[in-house]
Amino acid sequence: MNDEKTWAAVEDYLVKTLVQPDEAQRAALAASEAAGLPAINVTANHGKLLMMLVRAVRGGRPGKVLEIGTLGGFSTMWMARGLGGGGKVITLEMDPRHAALARKNIARAGLADAVEVREGVALETLPGIAAEAAQDGPFDLVFIDADKVNIPAYFEWSLKMVRVGSLIVVDNVVREGAVIDANSRDESVRGVRRFNDMVAAERRVTATAIQTVGSKGYDGFAVVEVVGD
Ligand code: SAH
Ligand code: DHB
Ligand code: MG
Repeated sequence: MNDEKTWAAVEDYLVKTLVQPDEAQRAALAASEAAGLPAINVTANHGKLLMMLVRAVRGGRPGKVLEIGTLGGFSTMWMARGLGGGGKVITLEMDPRHAALARKNIARAGLADAVEVREGVALETLPGIAAEAAQDGPFDLVFIDADKVNIPAYFEWSLKMVRVGSLIVVDNVVREGAVIDANSRDESVRGVRRFNDMVAAERRVTATAIQTVGSKGYDGFAVVEVVGD
């Protein structure tokens, strides 16, 4: 009962009984698969948790979300559903093919007005996003899910664009357990570990991380709460 096949079957069961993705969300995954995008989107049960976190953290006001790493827009769509009227997800994607398909998937879901897909390498688009946030107000939630090497840099940028009470969620922080290897030469693992050390040393935040199993194997995500400025 403790193998990848069981994890995937249980995920399937939980998604069907509790999560209940809608037609547009299923269509987005089908279109992404047909276009040959890698199947590295969040699972539906993780996506729905992101939606619920957005709802909880925005406190009845229109939500503002920043996502780094769009792919086909699956996680984007979940978070957009949590925004409330007038809210916005800004999502950053460097691959023009991914960005184009995401826009299509998002439009099909009726979420075009709630989402802005910004094309470009995140470290190049983030300074502009931060300048805008300084004008328009902070993000309620940031979801970091692009290249793992740059998680520390994305975390630093995120801290400039949030308020006390905001959440920063970081995907893929367990990597089949590889994260505990202090001598790892894997740049992704090193990125995650450096991020963890930064969080541990940062007085403005408090954090936890949850290990996950399912159709994507064994991984995990971190949730960072901003508690001070
Ligand atoms: N959040 C998505 C999955 C994102 S996969 C979901 O759960 O549905 C990671 C995405 O980040 C890929 O589409 C990849 O092209 C993009 N990416 C990788 N490095 C990037 C960078 N430096 N800047 C912007 N996007 C990047
Ligand atoms: C990869 C990236 C992800 O964001 C993810 O959730 C799973 C895998 C990857 O690049 O392999
Ligand atoms: Mg991920």
